[in-house]
Amino acid sequence: MALVSAKEMLQKAKAGHYAVGQFNINNLEWTKTILLTAEECKSPVILGVSEGAGKYMAGYKTVVGMVNGMLEELNITVPVALHLDHGSYEGAKKCIEAGFSSIMFDGSHLPFEENVEKTKELVAICNEKGMSLEAEVGSIGGEEDGVVGMGECADPQECKAIADLGVTMLAAGIGNIHGKYPANWAGLQFDVLDDIQKLTGEMPLVLHGGTGIPEDMIKKAISLGVSKINVNTECQIAFAEATRKYIEAGKDLEGKGFDPRKLLAPGAEAIKATVKEKMGIFGSIGKAE
Ligand code: 13P
Repeated sequence: MALVSAKEMLQKAKAGHYAVGQFNINNLEWTKTILLTAEECKSPVILGVSEGAGKYMAGYKTVVGMVNGMLEELNITVPVALHLDHGSYEGAKKCIEAGFSSIMFDGSHLPFEENVEKTKELVAICNEKGMSLEAEVGSIGGEEDGVVGMGECADPQECKAIADLGVTMLAAGIGNIHGKYPANWAGLQFDVLDDIQKLTGEMPLVLHGGTGIPEDMIKKAISLGVSKINVNTECQIAFAEATRKYIEAGKDLEGKGFDPRKLLAPGAEAIKATVKEKMGIFGSIGKAE
């Protein structure tokens, strides 16, 4: 199946009270593992690419070529969207050109009027091309690939103004943070989320910073209109831990254990376990059957 926009899968998720996972990719192992896991779980999936990861993977066109090749060669039948994560205006334009099927334009650090103006322009382009567009209001705390946020909660009225532009989905800061949550984290601000969903109606809402959010908070967020949840750091930690274990056990020194196909296999298995667990919590397993 060819890449699809995230629109239909997220509207279905919102109506069905579950969420689709966005799992960020960093290389071939990540991409292949996430696609095969989604297929095994019969779950729709969104592959997230930050601008930093896009550069690392030798550019957006390389990423599009790799993902399209895998969809065909691995016979992936579940809906897959290839999505720019926290894109700049320039990055968004490049990904539209390169063949992504979905874009996030993160104008949250711009003056609100400018966020509106640029989001509106990108909505028109994405509509014309049948692509989905995610916008952001408020900010996600912490840092991801150089994108730093102070974690201000979104203003529900501003969320409504952005939703009214016709974006496909909206990321609203509700106290969520990229990376690990500090021990003194105040938790998700459900009152803000509730106000936002009341004003934005059918709009699928996006929860960034999926790593480390307790299951009960995830479920409550879904019940309040979240239909896309982003996970990045957790797969990275799982990969690193499994790889360290392999090396520390001296497995790379046994036979041909240094072969990258062997060396990177435990990390890929760990990503698979993480993605499966998340899809189970999000409720997306079996939704692509
Ligand atoms: P985590 O790295 O905290 O899982 O956040 C991922 C994310 O929100 C990507 O935009």
